[in-house]
Amino acid sequence: MSSSVALEASIRAAFEQAFGGMPTALARSPGRVELLGNHTDYNGGLVMAAAIDRFTMIAGRKAESRRAQVHALAFGEDDVFAVDRVERSAAGSWSQYVRGVVWSLAELLEIQSGFDAVIAGDIPLGAGLSSSASLQTALATFLIGAGAVSDPAALGAHSPTTERADEVRMALGQILQRGENEFVGVASGLLDQFSVLFGRAGHALSLDCRSLAFERLPLGEPPPAIVVCDSKTSRRLADGMYNQRRSECERVVKHFGVRWLRDVTLKQLHSAWQDLDSVGRLRARHVLNENARVERGAKALKAGRLAEFGALMSESHRSSRDDFDNSSVELNALIEAAEASPGFLGGKLSGAGWAGCTVNLVEAAKAEAFADFVAAGYARRTGTSPAVHVCHSADGAFAWKCES
Ligand code: GLA
Repeated sequence: MSSSVALEASIRAAFEQAFGGMPTALARSPGRVELLGNHTDYNGGLVMAAAIDRFTMIAGRKAESRRAQVHALAFGEDDVFAVDRVERSAAGSWSQYVRGVVWSLAELLEIQSGFDAVIAGDIPLGAGLSSSASLQTALATFLIGAGAVSDPAALGAHSPTTERADEVRMALGQILQRGENEFVGVASGLLDQFSVLFGRAGHALSLDCRSLAFERLPLGEPPPAIVVCDSKTSRRLADGMYNQRRSECERVVKHFGVRWLRDVTLKQLHSAWQDLDSVGRLRARHVLNENARVERGAKALKAGRLAEFGALMSESHRSSRDDFDNSSVELNALIEAAEASPGFLGGKLSGAGWAGCTVNLVEAAKAEAFADFVAAGYARRTGTSPAVHVCHSADGAFAWKCES
C-alpha cells in the first residue's frame, strides 16, 4: 500500500472517531527537499527544490458554527479557536501554524465558516523537510476545497488553466509565508511554501525569489531517487543561527546599498573583499555562488546531464560547510558516507542546516543498495544509525471531495 493510501485510510477513521460522521473533503501536501540554492531565498536569489512523496493529509468538513476544531493525530492533541478572532495559542507549534493559516487567508479570502479537521502525515518532523509548510498548504487547500473560505477567484483564478492555477499557487504561497513570518514568528523565505505548492512528479522546481519567475524542470526518465538521510540531530539550534546568518547577509547588503544580496555580482564582491567584514564576505560568497549553481543546474537538467547536476549539489554542500558554516560533523559524515555508496550522483544538506537531513540524488535502480550502504557507512563513522528515507519527486498540494 502506498504511503498516501495508508494515510487516507487512517485519517478517515480518525476523523470518524474524533467528530462522528464522515469528512467532506481531503487535502494532501508533500514535503520538500532543497536541491540547490541554500540560503538564497531571503536574499532575493535563485533556488531549486523538489516536492517529495512524504505527505501531510487533512480530512475535514465545514462546521455549522464559526469555530475551528482541529485534531493532530501525531501528537494526540486538539486545538479549538474562533475563526473570526484568531489569536496565538498556548498549545504546541503545530497549532500556531494552523491558526496562522486562517489568520493569513483572512487577508485575501472570506472565511465562510468554522471547520472540523484531522491532521495526519508521514513527513519526519523537525528534519528540514518542510513539514510546517506542508501543514500550512494542506490546510489552506483543504479550506478552499471544502468551501470553508471563499473561492480563490479573488487571487486571480478565473479559469482553471495551468497559468491561472499557478498564479493562485503563487499568491497562496506568499500569503502563507506571511502567516509563518508574522503570525508564527519564523523568519523564513518563500522556498518552502513554493515547493510544496508547485511540485510535480518527475520534476525539480526552480524559483527566482526576486522576480518570482519559476520553472518546472524534468529530472530525466526514470527520474533519480531522492534519498533523504536524517542524522536525527536536533535542529533547535538552527533557529537562532538562521536569524544570525540573515543579519550577516544584511550587513553585506547594507555595505553595497542594494535591496538584495542578489543585486551584488561576484565581481563586485571580490573587489570589495578587503572592506567587508571577514564573516559577511564568506556568507555572501556562498549565496552568490549558489545563485550561479542554480543557473548551471537548470541548464544541466534541460540538457539531461544529471551527473553534472549531482556534482553541483556536492559543490553546494562544500560551500555550505566552508563559507556559510551551516553544516555539522554529522551532516558532513552523512555526505562522506553517501559519496562512497552505489548510485550516488550528488548530495548536500537540506534546508537551514546545522542538523537534520542531507538530500542525495541517486540512480533509481540503486536506491535501496545506496540506503543500506550509507546507513552502514555513517554508523561506522559516528557510532549512531541515521534514518534513511528513499523518496521520489511528487505533485504539489491538492484537495478532493470525499465520497462517504
Ligand atoms: C529553511 C527556510 C527556507 C530557506 C532554507 C535555506 O528551510 O525555511 O526558507 O531559507 O532554510 O535555504
